[in-house]
Amino acid sequence: MVVPTKESVTFSKLMEWQIKSMYPVFFTGITGTGKSITCQKLLELTKTQQIQPVFMYFSAKSDSYISQKYIEQNFKGSGARGVIGPIGGFTKGVLMVDDVNMPLQETYEAQPPVELLRQLIGLNGVYDRTTKEFKKSKNLVCVCIAAPPTGCRAKLTKRFSKFFHILNFPKSSTETLTKIFNSIFSGWIQKTLTVDFHDSSQRIVQAAIKIYQETDLKLKPTPIKSHYSYNLRDVSKIIQGLMMSKKQTFPKKETLFKLVAHEAQRVFKDRLIDDIDYRIFDEILNKTVKGDLNLSGEDLSEIFTDQGVLFCNFIKGDLLCYVQTYNMIQSKLYAFLKDYNADSSDKMNLVFFLDAVKHICRISRVLKQARGNCLLVGISGSGRQSLTRLATKILT
Ligand SMILES: Nc1ncnc2c1ncn2[C@@H]1O[C@H](COP(=O)(O)OP(=O)(O)O)[C@@H](O)[C@H]1O
Ligand SMILES: [Mg+2]
Repeated sequence: MVVPTKESVTFSKLMEWQIKSMYPVFFTGITGTGKSITCQKLLELTKTQQIQPVFMYFSAKSDSYISQKYIEQNFKGSGARGVIGPIGGFTKGVLMVDDVNMPLQETYEAQPPVELLRQLIGLNGVYDRTTKEFKKSKNLVCVCIAAPPTGCRAKLTKRFSKFFHILNFPKSSTETLTKIFNSIFSGWIQKTLTVDFHDSSQRIVQAAIKIYQETDLKLKPTPIKSHYSYNLRDVSKIIQGLMMSKKQTFPKKETLFKLVAHEAQRVFKDRLIDDIDYRIFDEILNKTVKGDLNLSGEDLSEIFTDQGVLFCNFIKGDLLCYVQTYNMIQSKLYAFLKDYNADSSDKMNLVFFLDAVKHICRISRVLKQARGNCLLVGISGSGRQSLTRLATKILT
């Protein structure tokens, strides 16, 4: 679901005009500002205006031969052979290239897939790989998207960027964030939870945004913590996590607020690498949960105990449940392990101590989410592989 914001509406309109007048556009802006999602949404709509959209995503491994094949396959043209253009039924074609500055640079800093695009835009065509003849492109316009050059993103040459109208997506302001997530979350809460919960939606969104902004401010990336970088996706993961629950998950309001703290810990705290950072994050969380969500007493202190708040999605069917003490799920896990060992030739002998239980809950949480991916980092023997195997077994 894409929520229209000031930026997305402005840039979509600008892009629409540029496409209609066949002028290439380049979108830039830091990651997680909604560049890709806005462009995709707009280009899907252009289908109704007789404009054929084709999406292409570059990565470090992209190569020019495969990219050219992909472009030729999707823009077969209509009528004359050997032309690159929209297929029959469409009058114009748009080629959207996401992460255009990602392809690996070769020795002399050229990026072959980018050079291919430069040729396509600059010369209005490319050379056929077998006949070596020049194939002209017709009624085709290019939209490129890329975050500014850092790390593996190379600096694009002026020879390439000169062709484009360049637009910069600004970092999302607090109002934009609030608007996006309020629209998504309040709709869900009204549909899913009972009336008593409806007034919490704004407070929860505000808390999630505050946690993100404070963490972004206080826990900065350094060479050994290069993964301490946060963006809009992290807030959306907190909201996505909350939306995986059902009415039965929450016997009372405090449980919902505990789930907010749980999701924030999964999204932000699980990424941190030492005790000092844990403490900084706990302070941020404590302030927000106390201030914005009004949690107090036992409900509040429970968040910061060794066990912390624990939710799991495998004790009562696939319902997300609050777990009072981890012993409650231990026996369930031993039963799953027995099942696993009965089916598998590669038997595992696991002990479910607190950290192991917490890890399984974390892994199964991510596996349950749409487009949920996780990268488990840790010293060997910490159970990354075996706990993941068990978590996948539990969810099947
Ligand atoms: N207008 C919006 N409405 C809803 N979600 C949004 C919006 N803008 C951004 N998002 C969220 O932010 C995430 C990152 O957006 P994305 O387009 O992938 O960023 P970028 O391409 O700039 O790195 C999306 O997956 C989506 O969840
Ligand atoms: Mg993107």
